[in-house]
Amino acid sequence: MTAKLIKGTEIREQILAEIKEEVEKIKAEHGVVPGLVTILVGENPASVSYVTAKIKTAKSLGFKEVQDNQPDDISEEALLELIDKYNNDDTIHGILVQLPLPKHIDEKKVLNAIDPDKDVDGFHPVNVGRLMIGGKEVKFPPCTPAGIQEMIVRAGVETEGAEVVVVGRSNIVGKPIAVMMMQKGPGANATVTVVHTRTKDLASHCKRADILIVAAGVPGLVKPEWIKPGACVIDVGVNRVGEKISEKTGKKVAILRGDVDFDAAKEIAGWITPVPGGVGPMTITMLMKNTLNSLKYKLGLA
Ligand code: GUN
Repeated sequence: MTAKLIKGTEIREQILAEIKEEVEKIKAEHGVVPGLVTILVGENPASVSYVTAKIKTAKSLGFKEVQDNQPDDISEEALLELIDKYNNDDTIHGILVQLPLPKHIDEKKVLNAIDPDKDVDGFHPVNVGRLMIGGKEVKFPPCTPAGIQEMIVRAGVETEGAEVVVVGRSNIVGKPIAVMMMQKGPGANATVTVVHTRTKDLASHCKRADILIVAAGVPGLVKPEWIKPGACVIDVGVNRVGEKISEKTGKKVAILRGDVDFDAAKEIAGWITPVPGGVGPMTITMLMKNTLNSLKYKLGLA
């Protein structure tokens, strides 16, 4: 193996320790802690496990955490009223509505109802606009792209003038990470290309990348010969390709595979993120950072 592993599990611990220290300092000096509410509608098993992990992390950092679970058949109106309640609650600084929502609820309408200054997911159009403008305008970068940028920076990968190729153009990962990497500023200043399902020659673009960010949702899409020797490869793919029995718990767990052929790619890349244990752990971490920042904006500390 030639590539250095960029482990999200390790970077997460560093960032969470930094957040915890700041929470304690703010609590001592201002008598307040960050407040995060997660709103979960229904009992989708993946959503339940994400929300549980978010709440557990918030608790471990000394946040006020509220897990507000609602039945599958809650009306859109009642959900909007609930969001309004938290918009007006001074002890809550971050509101997260776990997606997907049931079909009878208009997801866009719900996300747009969250106060943009409590939108720690960064999905509200106001925050999407702020991200596009860049610099000090940005309040809540979306969590997965923010985690990716943090990993690149903490691994010591040069981004200034680098050729960044993003595979995928989703609103949650591809589009925002492309914008973030091309902005002026540290950890950015890159030349960015976005490729997608209609791109004519994916391989030729990927081969130019100093930093290759893959968020396509296609297991093993990126072949080793598409990788420039020494490149930094960030694999955002979390594809369930089967099930196995966990050695630790004896329970059935998903077998996860990334969008990159890891075993071959690690012999060519300079840096690479594993799946699992790479980008995945960073998303919740950056949600905590956004929630802390929300309180800091309110207190005039950021
Ligand atoms: N469902 C899957 N990922 C996410 C996320 O990052 N935020 C929210 N709100 N829902 C999700």
